[in-house]
Amino acid sequence: MTAKLFATISKVIYEHAGIVLSEVKEDMVYSRLSRRIRRTGSQDFDDYLNMALQPEGEEFTHFVNAITTNLTSFYREKHHFDFIEKSLLPALTADPRRKRLRVWSAGCSTGEEPYTIAMTLSEQIPKGWDTKILATDLDTNVVAHGHAGIYGMDRVDGLEKRILQKHFQQIQEDGRSKVQVKKELRDLVYFKPLNLLRQWPMKGPFDFIFCRNVVIYFDKPTQKVLFNRFADLLAPGGYLFIGHSESMYKLTDRFESLGNTIYRKIK
Ligand SMILES: C[S@@+](CC[C@H](N)C(=O)[O-])C[C@H]1O[C@@H](n2cnc3c(N)ncnc32)[C@H](O)[C@@H]1O
Repeated sequence: MTAKLFATISKVIYEHAGIVLSEVKEDMVYSRLSRRIRRTGSQDFDDYLNMALQPEGEEFTHFVNAITTNLTSFYREKHHFDFIEKSLLPALTADPRRKRLRVWSAGCSTGEEPYTIAMTLSEQIPKGWDTKILATDLDTNVVAHGHAGIYGMDRVDGLEKRILQKHFQQIQEDGRSKVQVKKELRDLVYFKPLNLLRQWPMKGPFDFIFCRNVVIYFDKPTQKVLFNRFADLLAPGGYLFIGHSESMYKLTDRFESLGNTIYRKIK
């Protein structure tokens, strides 16, 4: 892959998804796109990119999916779920007028994050509440994976036995033992493909939004726009959870920090 081709790939991905591909990512991009080159029977990078970068072409989606980094896990950054369990839900459920809860997992990857939110809510939300968790991601493969809710045993290794029994059932897929999130929990989560850089069809308001380990791939101007858009869609006093190495410092004054990368909307 020549420097010129890498520059073209970086430009296209930045303009489409906001993801900044610095030179240190060159080996990663090379190995991920090599797989697509083999899969599509392309002759080389030039040949592949000619096809992948066709506007409206089918390969463009696979090209973008290959570039995204989807690392995630159940109960990742557990302090956020502890906060929901110990502070947020007791306050919300104490309000007798409230019977509705809207949550958004933006950049949900393969679904571990929104399902962890669903498991946490299911411990305390009274029956009869209208609860919905929207789970969105740019990568169409991970959205389909999340929707199916099927995971290898290694993905649920560290989960408490009680949680595993309550929310997962054993299944066989391709001759291997796996688990699937039970239907009651899957029914709470609505998976949809969505590019955070484009228009958002939903109106909100959301009670809380998770956007963790996503803006780390974006530059500061893109992060600033995004944090303000999240504030627009949050209910007054709503919460935004971001990843452990992300920060709102000097980007927006619409949130106050509660520590531990938890923010509360103030305007
Ligand atoms: C590292 S994963 C984080 C998953 C999960 N939030 C967590 O913290 O465990 C980052 C996700 O952001 C998604 N992503 C990257 N750019 C995006 C964009 N412009 N719009 C929507 N999702 C995006 C990727 O596809 C990927 O699944």
